[in-house]
Amino acid sequence: MSEIVGYIGKKNALPILIEKMKQMSFKEYDSSGILVLSDNKAILVKVVGRLENLEKKLKNKKIEGNIGLGHLRWASVGRVITKNAHPHFDCKKEIFLVHSGMIENHKELRRQLIKEGHILSSETDSELICHLIENYFQGNLEEAVKKTIQKIRGAYAFVVVSRKDPQKIVAVKFSSPLFFGKVKDGILIASDKSIFTKFKPIETKDGEIIVFRRDKFHILKERINFQSENLDKGIYPHFMLKEIFEEPEIIENVIRGRVILEKGMVKFGGLDALKEKLKKINNLILIGCGSSFYAAKFGEILLQEYAKINARSEIASEFRYLDPFLNKSTAVISISQSGESTDTLAVLKKMKEKGMMTIGITNVISSSQAKETDAGIYLRAGTEIAVASTKTFLSQLITLVMLTIYFGRQRSMDLKTSKRILQELIKTSNFIREILNRRSEIEKLAKKYQEFKNFYVLGMKYNFPIALEGALKLKEVSYLHAEGICGGELKHGPIALIDKNFLTIAICPSDSVYDKMKSNLQEIKKGNGLVIAIATQGNREIQKLADDVFYIPKTLEILTPILTVIPLQLLSYYFAVLLKREIDKPRNLVKSVIEK
Ligand code: AGP
Repeated sequence: MSEIVGYIGKKNALPILIEKMKQMSFKEYDSSGILVLSDNKAILVKVVGRLENLEKKLKNKKIEGNIGLGHLRWASVGRVITKNAHPHFDCKKEIFLVHSGMIENHKELRRQLIKEGHILSSETDSELICHLIENYFQGNLEEAVKKTIQKIRGAYAFVVVSRKDPQKIVAVKFSSPLFFGKVKDGILIASDKSIFTKFKPIETKDGEIIVFRRDKFHILKERINFQSENLDKGIYPHFMLKEIFEEPEIIENVIRGRVILEKGMVKFGGLDALKEKLKKINNLILIGCGSSFYAAKFGEILLQEYAKINARSEIASEFRYLDPFLNKSTAVISISQSGESTDTLAVLKKMKEKGMMTIGITNVISSSQAKETDAGIYLRAGTEIAVASTKTFLSQLITLVMLTIYFGRQRSMDLKTSKRILQELIKTSNFIREILNRRSEIEKLAKKYQEFKNFYVLGMKYNFPIALEGALKLKEVSYLHAEGICGGELKHGPIALIDKNFLTIAICPSDSVYDKMKSNLQEIKKGNGLVIAIATQGNREIQKLADDVFYIPKTLEILTPILTVIPLQLLSYYFAVLLKREIDKPRNLVKSVIEK
């Protein structure tokens, strides 16, 4: 996360900004910049690298003015180059802005602004906010900001000034921290509250537009009613298919600005404030319902094995009625795409009452879960319209891999391991593109097996939660009876159902449990059962054990779920099409299970 600071008052802004930026400079950043306004003149200086580079560039320059902005950039959208450093400006260099967070709909906005004739000077999402303000500016900065925030989606805090509406600073935030408070002879606005040394700062609330003048401020409350997202199906017949096709880009969104590859580290802005406390946590409880619980299960396996932390997953709808023994040094990770599932919120409430630290993973920034938790990670998947989760589930998996590295690196995970996982994680978006390009293979499989009524989805270890998710998708959208089973359990009972009318979808990438899966397939064949195998490219042997094979690209064993889930989502989609189901709104289901 980048850090922002603004000053308006009687003093010269520059030394105050530099002093405050120094106080924040223990955090990660790759470039910095300042803007000082005096009369109608704007002086802008930006550099790549350490703050000392900025100071060097400012040396011997006479920069005076009572209004200023400062920024420490941690690159998320756009490379680490001077023109991408903040402050950013509009076409006429009249509006200047510093921003922290990420604008999710930046691609759509960039296209629109270029079409409208705006001259963009950087590769960032942040600059686009200046041009939107420019579009709406009619002499009053806060009025333009009011309209702008209806057009941007994401988590953000920004501070803006205009030469055409001078003597004021306007600030607003949505789900990113922003504080303001008195300093000697002026007002300071910043993303980090620790820089307010003398007076306790005020925390800005989401959607509050604050107008600062030299010695006073006023707040305009604005409901953010984001509407510009493209919520039609576009070229796709159903939202579910559209959302599956968005998955490669979502992986890129989830990773952007959060991976420090050379250090093998992951940075979650939302967890920054709890970083030190999290180092001391010994136990994690991951809670969720439905697909979110399956993601929690995946997280549990990963966190145990790679972060060496005592993690366990619990079904929230069940856990809320239990009274388990809980260790004090426990943090609860609540996973909910909507952030509104009653059962998950009930567990969260209970855990908070017991004094547990709470972290939320959600796709809805302003959700109840986001408000209830001590810290949070945002899924960055964009609105999911189809009732069945696809892209949000994938985003949960990616987030949990990254969270494992986050906790792992705080503990004993070495650089080589984390770097290798991150390098491979980055490749998964293209691997999914490859799988999606072969969707017709899945469509053919759905046609071939459309008469089947009963299914097992078999998976082991990291892919057991994916077997559960694959079976849930078949139930939800295709109305087919499907059970997710872990491979080793087959012979403990379920194999009794196998006959020529029973189809097993076996997730069997070439991994540490491949041989076990292979022997399961041999047993199914003995019982005349039919098998579709999801296997790793290059595995010819599997063709003898399965009736059909869908190949996925080769990746690390722990990342295979990110790939194996895609053919399962597509298969349930194509079955549903053939069976003429109500794909986006299946019968009896709602998107968020909320109890009144
Ligand atoms: C997934 O396809 C389902 N719609 C359902 O299982 C869902 O995951 C569950 O209801 C939890 O929802 P949440 O993630 O919004 O809390």
